[in-house]
Amino acid sequence: MGKVIAIILLIGIVGAAGFLILQQSGTFNNLNSGDALCSDANTPPLSFSVGSEISLSTVRANNTIQSCFVIYEDKVYRIPASWICEHPGGRNEIESRCGQDVTFIFNQGQHGKAEENQLSTYYIGELAD
Ligand code: HEM
Repeated sequence: MGKVIAIILLIGIVGAAGFLILQQSGTFNNLNSGDALCSDANTPPLSFSVGSEISLSTVRANNTIQSCFVIYEDKVYRIPASWICEHPGGRNEIESRCGQDVTFIFNQGQHGKAEENQLSTYYIGELAD
């Protein structure tokens, strides 16, 4: 009997440890609950005023969920981390495209006028030539 309990306990401990390791490694990054990366608290303030020209290299450099610039039809948007985690099409669809031009993918179905309006609230500037 004691042996059975010991084995059950062992399985529990190994399982919990495995879960924690996977969680730390980011395996569950698509699960949003309680993920610190989904907070806007660590997003740095913009170093320029909204409406400025923004170079392609600046967009490319802002390629993390914490500061996620995307280009849509030659305008630049910064998508808040909290919203990326709430994206109806899934967090990863945006997170994996931070720093990139999303015009093609955005225009591929799924997004209409309402989505474009939502995107426009994240406008930060014009893509420089
Ligand atoms: C900023 C860049 C964005 C990118 C790269 C992006 C990308 C995507 C992609 C790839 C999908 C398809 C997912 C799939 O096929 O499973 C999708 C779906 C969707 N996105 Fe976006 N999206 C963006 C912004 C937005 C915005 C601003 C909204 C506004 C609400 C939005 C709302 C939606 C909705 C409603 C769906 C459909 C979800 C469904 O029917 O399951 N997206 N998005």
